[in-house]
Amino acid sequence: MVVPRGIDVHTPHIARIYDYWLGGKDNFAVDRAAAERVMAATPTIKPGVAANRAFLQRVVRFMAGEGVTQFLDIGTGIPTADNTHLVAQQASPQSRVVYVDNDPIVLAHARALLSGVTAPTAFLDADLRDTDRILEGAADLLDFRRPVGLLLIAILHCVPDGDDPRLIVRTLMDALPPGSFLAITHPGIDQLPEQMAAAEKALTDAMGFRVTFRTHEGVSAFFTGLEVLDPGVVAVQEWRPDSPPASTTTGMWGGAARKP
Ligand SMILES: C[S@@+](CC[C@H](N)C(=O)[O-])C[C@H]1O[C@@H](n2cnc3c(N)ncnc32)[C@H](O)[C@@H]1O
Repeated sequence: MVVPRGIDVHTPHIARIYDYWLGGKDNFAVDRAAAERVMAATPTIKPGVAANRAFLQRVVRFMAGEGVTQFLDIGTGIPTADNTHLVAQQASPQSRVVYVDNDPIVLAHARALLSGVTAPTAFLDADLRDTDRILEGAADLLDFRRPVGLLLIAILHCVPDGDDPRLIVRTLMDALPPGSFLAITHPGIDQLPEQMAAAEKALTDAMGFRVTFRTHEGVSAFFTGLEVLDPGVVAVQEWRPDSPPASTTTGMWGGAARKP
């Protein structure tokens, strides 16, 4: 593939590792090697990321069905099939979607993806920890007087406890009006304890920064103060499945909640 300027092809990156697991082509040898090391630690990783994407699509459809036409998708990842704007705009063609990511390769792909999109969709190059910048930038497209669906899908493990991810989530939700929704997925250290501990270490070693897999309790805590929707925080494939889930061992927790 052509390497866009400013992209480091010698250090594995989480978006490209994830792309490899999803069967994409936007990854380099270092990413594939790192992805394979994590897969050796936990063979459920590939079904896990597929189930995570399926959760994203179901939860966006659910929110759209509740009348939400504005989405803030932080930690977008490299665009792939059925991205948030496609699912949302299927339900309501004028749905507005702001994507946020801090990775230059994601940014390059997002620009290409969005160049042909006529419906209101924007991309913001920002760090999840910089909530002021995200809220300010998103306000160009989203009307914060109307409900917003906030999506934090497979990103919060990139934020260590020291950076207070609970405060980050609360700050974002505080900026949204009642009737807004929050959806989170997160690698669960207690779903498949040995495998997930090995995967957490393999990913941390590969990335050069610490990823933090959390317990069911730790993931549930992100929803404090919100009305958690049935069936609660569950293995992602068990959250309102379209058909009976094939496996119960994805290693990912997921849930959604409404702001009262
Ligand atoms: C595992 S991918 C998830 C992609 C997508 N949400 C999904 O679930 O299919 C995590 C994404 O979060 C982004 N990311 C990680 N840490 C971030 C941060 N602090 N701020 C913004 N984006 C971040 C990465 O660049 C990557 O694209």
